[in-house]
Amino acid sequence: MHRPQVYLTRLFSREGIDLLKETCEVEINPEDRPLSREELLAKVKNKDGVIGMLTDRIDAEFFDTANALRGYANLAVGFDNIDVPEATRRRIPVSNTPGVLSIATAELAWALLFAVARRIVETDKIMRSGTWPGGGPLQYIGADVTGKTLGILGAGRIGTAMGLMSKGFRMRLLYTNFSCKENETLKAELGARLVSLEQLLRESDYISIHSPLTPATRHLFTAEAFARMKPTAILINTARGPIIKEDDLVAALGSRTIAGAGLDVYEFEPKMAKGLAELDNAVVIPHIGSATSSSRGGMSLLAARNLLAMLEGRKPESCLNPEIYTQ
Ligand code: DGY
Repeated sequence: MHRPQVYLTRLFSREGIDLLKETCEVEINPEDRPLSREELLAKVKNKDGVIGMLTDRIDAEFFDTANALRGYANLAVGFDNIDVPEATRRRIPVSNTPGVLSIATAELAWALLFAVARRIVETDKIMRSGTWPGGGPLQYIGADVTGKTLGILGAGRIGTAMGLMSKGFRMRLLYTNFSCKENETLKAELGARLVSLEQLLRESDYISIHSPLTPATRHLFTAEAFARMKPTAILINTARGPIIKEDDLVAALGSRTIAGAGLDVYEFEPKMAKGLAELDNAVVIPHIGSATSSSRGGMSLLAARNLLAMLEGRKPESCLNPEIYTQ
């Protein structure tokens, strides 16, 4: 019997790989780095299924090359790396991994928020340098969180989780959704209000970005947006880097147009904009929003289950183009 040939563009948590190996021949990129475009295209020829991630561009050229492909599973909830309409046109199912990483990503957004507000990284550096002269009443003053206004851009699964976690801090909660849909959970639990982007920018002490990257959200945060924010505001981004024009953010942080930023994602990953690394009011970490063992294990299993369903001709749990199963 033909065992489906599956290619994984990166080694990921064991759970899903073990499941795939029960019925498929699995080949895995042995290097701990993303494949170059040429390497990716060379590997996906004659494969029945592929599991890839954000760093793999899944487009017409990919589908032309992956001549035997019956399904592609993204090991990520974000899917701006996939040309979904092109996959649909070719009737190739594609999937993502929503839900299993929401709590981990929301927790990381909070970690960044506190790290910036209370200057954790900056002061950690002072301790390590051996230059701390001992405590003083005017040293390292940070920002309060309790009772402040939290603005969530994109109150989907992760934005909702972040909002719910604010409960203990008795915050005023605002959110902006491009769908203009009210979030009943945040409304019922916290009295959160759906507001325009303008109001979110103007009134928030903290803004946390949880929107997908789309043409509508690309460069939503530019010099113009920063000028509308409070000079004491702190911006957190655990979603996608290009939502912020990073050069403008560096300028806004340098001139104290806004007070700080906590970033897990970058406009041109893995690079950061010039000047960002030198700013004490920015906390920068390497795209680790979903990096807990339960979240990564859940992503691994969900991606594997999605791919197995596609290979068996069934609709995967989190299908990005379900219409191909009904039309
Ligand atoms: C996601 O799941 O979208 C994370 O950002 C990892 O790419």
